[in-house]
Amino acid sequence: PWLIGFLIFSSYLLGSIPFGVVVSRLLGAVDPRTAGSRNVGFTNVLRVSGKKAGILTLLGDIGKGWLAGWVGTMLLQEESAILWVALASVIGHLHSVFLGFKGGKGVATALGAALGVAPWIGLTLMGLWVGAVFLWKYSSGGALFAFAMFPIVALLFHRSWTFIGFTCVVSLLIWVRHKDNLVRLWSGTESRIGQAS
Ligand code: G3P
Repeated sequence: PWLIGFLIFSSYLLGSIPFGVVVSRLLGAVDPRTAGSRNVGFTNVLRVSGKKAGILTLLGDIGKGWLAGWVGTMLLQEESAILWVALASVIGHLHSVFLGFKGGKGVATALGAALGVAPWIGLTLMGLWVGAVFLWKYSSGGALFAFAMFPIVALLFHRSWTFIGFTCVVSLLIWVRHKDNLVRLWSGTESRIGQAS
């Protein structure tokens, strides 16, 4: 049990690293918390600081979720314990200890965590996100679509109810975090990916 607790805590700390803020500071770019949607994620960093900063943020935030999920999978046997470790990285991103328990919207970290615990499901989810964003041009819309599909994808892959429960919790957290985006999508005022808000 101490190992499970240690991994959950470490995963939370890892998930707390706001790559959008770190990358922007390292590149001397604008702090994403002060511009655009004020979110620390890939979409807003891309919007306010361009492709390089955006892609580095995306890779960092996917990478930390992936690492948490992968290490959990390597070191633990029990599925629910592995999923708690993966979930902790997403919660870290949403409520970062380094940002006064504020944080991002969880899309990239959750994609990474899914890749770490179930690579094929993670790749499917990523494909849905990329495909939907490519067709629809809304990053938030693509994320909302992909995560709405997450439990369905898990069902199609014949995963356990524990895993399906995990997908529902992650999707719910992401949907709740996107409430402002949902309002903007609904009213037609959401900015398209890569465009200034
Ligand atoms: O992943 C966040 C994205 O879905 C929306 O970001 O900055 O447009 O609110 P933003």
